[in-house]
Amino acid sequence: MGSTYSEINGPRLLADLRTLARFGKEGQGVNRLSFSPEDIEARAWLRGRMRDAGLNTQIDGVGNVFGQTPNVGRTVLIGSHTDTVPNGGWLDGAMGVIYGLEIARAMIEAGSLRDGGVDVISFADEESTYVVTLGSRSFVGELADSEITEGKSIVGETLVAALERAGYAGSARAALDPGRHTAYLEAHIEQGPRLEAEGKRIGVVTSIVGMRGMEASFQGQADHAGTTPMRLRKDAGAALFAFAAEVTAAFEETSAADTVWNFGHVVFEPGAGNVVPRAARLLIEYRDPSEGVLDAMETAVLKAADRVNREGKVVAETHRSFSLAPVAMNPNLVQCIEDSARHYKAPAVRMPSGAGHDAMHLARHLPTGMLFIPSIGGRSHDIAEDTSEEDIVLGAQVLARAVEAILAA
Ligand code: HGY
Ligand code: MN
Ligand code: MN
Repeated sequence: MGSTYSEINGPRLLADLRTLARFGKEGQGVNRLSFSPEDIEARAWLRGRMRDAGLNTQIDGVGNVFGQTPNVGRTVLIGSHTDTVPNGGWLDGAMGVIYGLEIARAMIEAGSLRDGGVDVISFADEESTYVVTLGSRSFVGELADSEITEGKSIVGETLVAALERAGYAGSARAALDPGRHTAYLEAHIEQGPRLEAEGKRIGVVTSIVGMRGMEASFQGQADHAGTTPMRLRKDAGAALFAFAAEVTAAFEETSAADTVWNFGHVVFEPGAGNVVPRAARLLIEYRDPSEGVLDAMETAVLKAADRVNREGKVVAETHRSFSLAPVAMNPNLVQCIEDSARHYKAPAVRMPSGAGHDAMHLARHLPTGMLFIPSIGGRSHDIAEDTSEEDIVLGAQVLARAVEAILAA
């Protein structure tokens, strides 16, 4: 290869990733929820590393950390997120951002900017601590102002308060520049078992599944758990369990080959062993490549809530907390990433993504491609998440070469 674009510095990339993992370190993983003190510190550190690399930097009004290569007219945008789920892994999101940093830095260092450069972004709150994919939807202009004013964390802090506390409120919001950004690339760990099982080192994403979130709440009456006869209870907790069992049975009926669902969060109030639950709340997420399947699943949730209400003891309410449409990746970029993997003699496989990514939103505005590398044991969204250093470096090389090809085209 004539150019030096793809000569990324593997040890430097790994050192940056290990340093980033120290913010919120939890065993071998990371607990770095959006806008927590650890997340805010990590954003400031990342901005510093971008600045050291020679990028023009900003942290925008929703917390996006954005670094742009100076003195170039066109760039490939590379990004992902640096927030985590509770007790998450060190690579989910962070790796894609540090790939962008390393590739931008390597190109600036080598003076390989004839055809353009790289802009790097860490999108805020991909993991939905406050508002689902807050940063990437803001960046593409699809975030409603009401989502900022109404956003709240699971523990009840408003997004407005969090942005003020972080010092981001009032800053300009970074935006996609179609005249400058020619493509969006996001690299990520697979977060599932397939690459490892098939002995492949590179996955090329063809599409990302659709996802919906629903919240179901139940209002009953608190009573003494020892003295109130069962038939007289208005037990919000019992209603939630029956509802969840009914929804599970209905989902089993409607599901297709790749359908998945999760009951990820339950709260009972007041939450004591000797008090009949007065109120209960359940978060449901479900995913499928087809909107039709997602619609049928939503109907099943509404039907189960109706059944609770018809029984008349407990009041059930549901609402959709988010809906992300399934999206295809750009076929030329799929090909380009595959070609790059071939150059490194890395066995690659085309595959759908069952996880959501910021790329879902970018893909509606820019040619978008995603690269996966294996997850050891398929583990993710847990501190056990890991990937070999050899695979991490290989993924960055493959992505760097794809950037070169995109800019040269
Ligand atoms: O939930 C997801 O798929 C992603 O990890 N945010
Ligand atoms: Mn994640
Ligand atoms: Mn992620």
